[in-house]
Amino acid sequence: SIVHVVLTGGVGSRLWPLSRKSQPKQYLEIFEGKSLFEMTIERNSHLADKVMVVGNVDNHHLSGKVMDKTKTSYTNIVEATPRNTAAAIAFAAFASKSEDILIITPSDHIIDKIEDYNNAIQEAISKAKDGFIVTFGIIPTKPETGYGYIESKGDKVLSFREKPNETTAKEFIARGNFLWNSGMFCFKAGVLLDELKQFQPDVYEKSKAVWEASERGFLDLELSMQIPSISIDYAVMERSKKIKVVPASFSWSDLGSFESVYEYLVSKGHPVDSNGNMVIGCDSHTTFLGLRNTIFVHTDNANLILQKENSQDVKDIYNELEKQN
Ligand code: GDD
Ligand code: MG
Repeated sequence: SIVHVVLTGGVGSRLWPLSRKSQPKQYLEIFEGKSLFEMTIERNSHLADKVMVVGNVDNHHLSGKVMDKTKTSYTNIVEATPRNTAAAIAFAAFASKSEDILIITPSDHIIDKIEDYNNAIQEAISKAKDGFIVTFGIIPTKPETGYGYIESKGDKVLSFREKPNETTAKEFIARGNFLWNSGMFCFKAGVLLDELKQFQPDVYEKSKAVWEASERGFLDLELSMQIPSISIDYAVMERSKKIKVVPASFSWSDLGSFESVYEYLVSKGHPVDSNGNMVIGCDSHTTFLGLRNTIFVHTDNANLILQKENSQDVKDIYNELEKQN
């Protein structure tokens, strides 16, 4: 079968205070009454035979609501604690047949030009059937440090580098044959598990133990805590020789940080002053004096004022607040 696996266990800590542990950004109904999660389910519904949702015990009721609303039957995998994407993807693979083709998607991206998206997925499925791990390459527009970079030649992947520092990212952009990793993947369940076993035996074994001890998709907390927390990008993509890339001609935006939200909002005509300052979440008149590229984020019980360039650091504030609670 072809299985759409939706990863939705992250809290979106770089979008605090819009995004909270109890209400991660992918469930905010900010797009004509729909959430990014719901749009993800709809976009992929006709591309796969089955749907699997890998989420978190703190908010799986939110994905459940959307699945009911859209009348989608699905396999629910509920993590007791987030152990990052290598483990989350491993659970989905363990829950599948070795020959099943998995289409892994995050639940927090905006995608347009759907026909191109559908074509890219079909191309990826055919490469996955040949035993490859397929990534989707986005043409980079700036030396973003929050993404993975794919060095490519045609569909060949020469190297994969997750979240380089700014100097390296600039170098990659200058060299011209690097694409951004979209964060979506397509592969046979068995192929991914073989690679994970080879490169991260500890993640493989411990995720397997957790999966085998699970009850109706609910995973055990104590066992889960022993799984090393590492993303699939570092665990497998940077090391595997089986990676291919499908260049994406669809339009793609990861609303991962306030910088990308800012750009998205600008493209939608959201107001920004002549010094590049923006207000998010508040209708009161707000004036920025002597400030540039500042974003003011307002919610009922928390505000954030940041320099756009510091968008990647918001997760540190989130982590700090988490510790205090
Ligand atoms: N179930 C589950 N469990 N899901 C998780 C977990 C987890 O522990 N951690 C993260 N996720 C989900 C997130 O909710 C998101 O939908 C997706 O997995 C990717 O995680 P992010 O934390 O958003 O990753 P990233 O944005 O830093 O980096 C990835 O995406 C970039 C593009 O958006 C990488 O693949 C980069 O290489 C890529 O460029
Ligand atoms: Mg992300």
